[in-house]
Amino acid sequence: MFQSRITGMGFYVPDNVVTNHDLTKIMDTSDEWIQERSGIQERRWVKPGSDDTSSVMGAKAARKAIEDAGLTKDDIDFIVFATLSPDYYFPGGGVQIQHLLGMPNIGALDVRNQCTGFIYSLTVADQFIKTGMYKNILVIGAEFHSNGLDKTTRGRQVAVLFGDGAGAVVLSRSDKEGHGILTANLHSQGEYAEQLAVTAPAMKKWVTELMANPDDLSYYPYMDGPLVFKHAINRFGESMEEAMQAVNITPEQVNLFIPHQANLRISQMVQRKFRFRDNQVFNNIQKYGNTTAATIPIALVEAREQGRIKEGDYVILSAFGGGFTWGSVILRW
Ligand code: UT7
Repeated sequence: MFQSRITGMGFYVPDNVVTNHDLTKIMDTSDEWIQERSGIQERRWVKPGSDDTSSVMGAKAARKAIEDAGLTKDDIDFIVFATLSPDYYFPGGGVQIQHLLGMPNIGALDVRNQCTGFIYSLTVADQFIKTGMYKNILVIGAEFHSNGLDKTTRGRQVAVLFGDGAGAVVLSRSDKEGHGILTANLHSQGEYAEQLAVTAPAMKKWVTELMANPDDLSYYPYMDGPLVFKHAINRFGESMEEAMQAVNITPEQVNLFIPHQANLRISQMVQRKFRFRDNQVFNNIQKYGNTTAATIPIALVEAREQGRIKEGDYVILSAFGGGFTWGSVILRW
C-alpha cells in the first residue's frame, strides 16, 4: 500500500468584504448578535457581476495548490470536488475545473457532503492513492453561497453565517513512512437530512411547483440551528476520539486541530472537551464565516502561513454538517 500526503495547498476568496455592520443595513440583525452567537466578524461575498462561481473559485484555488506542490496541471491524475453550491444542477463542477485549468481529460468526481465535503473528498482521494491507481489528486472545496441566501430578516439565522470561497490541496503518493494521512472516519445520519437543507428545486419538487406557489421558499437553505449545534458538539467529539484511538495518540499529542468553521462556539466547546490549549486549535471563521466545503483547506493554508504546522506534527481535521454527515482525518505532516 502507498501513503498519501498533502504536497501543495492554495485558497481563493473574493475581494468583497461584507462586515456584520453591512448586514445590519439589509436585515434586522446586529454585530453583537452575530459575534456572540457565531464569532463571525466578516465574510466574503462575490460581488454581483463578478465571474466567480464555485467552480471558478475552485479552479483559482487549485491553480495555487498545483504551483505550491511544484507540479503542473499535466501532473494531476484526478479531481475530487466538493461543493453544495454548484454552478449547474448537472453536470457537477469538477468537470468545469478540469476545463478551466486546461487539464488533460482526467477524471473528475463531485462530492456532495456539505460541511463534511472536504473530509469525504480527502478520504476518497487517499484511497485512490493508497491502492496505487493515482499519484497526484486535486482535492477542492468551494462554495458560492451568497447568490442563494435569503438576505432579508426572514433568512437572517442562516444568511449571516455563510461566506464564499475556495480551498484546494494536492494529495500525492509518498514513500515517507508514518507521514501523511494516518486515519479517516466518515459518518452519516440521514434521518436529519431535512434539518439542514435546500430541498427544491429538485425532482421531488420541480421549479414549476415552486412558481405555482410563491409562498414556498424551499429554494432557500433551511437550518434548525439549535438541533444542528447540539448534534455537532457530540459528533465532533465522537469522531475525533475514534480517529485518535485509531492512531493511538492522546489529545495532548495533537499539534493542531482544524475544525470545520461552522461556529466559533462549537470549536470552543470541542476544544474544552479535549482540553486543547489555544495553540492547538486553529480558527478563522471570524474573517470568512462558514464557507462549508472550503473552510478546512482555507484554514490549512492560513495555519501553515502562520507557522502553525511543522514537519512531524499531528494535525486533526474534523467536520460536521448537512446530511447529517461528519468525520475526521488525522495527518502526520
Ligand atoms: O456548517 C454547517 C453546520 N452548521 C452549524 O453547525 C450551525 C449550528 N447552529 C448554530 O451555529 C446556531 O444555532 C446559530 C448561530 C445558527 C443560531 O444561534 P442560537 O444561539 O442557536 O440562536 P437561535 O437560533 O436559538 O435564535 C435565538 C434568537 C431568536 O429570537 P427569539 O426567538 O429568541 O426571539 C432568533 O430569531 O436569535 C434570533 N436570531 C437573530 N437575531 C439577530 C436568529 N438569527 C438572528 C440574527 N440576528 N442573524
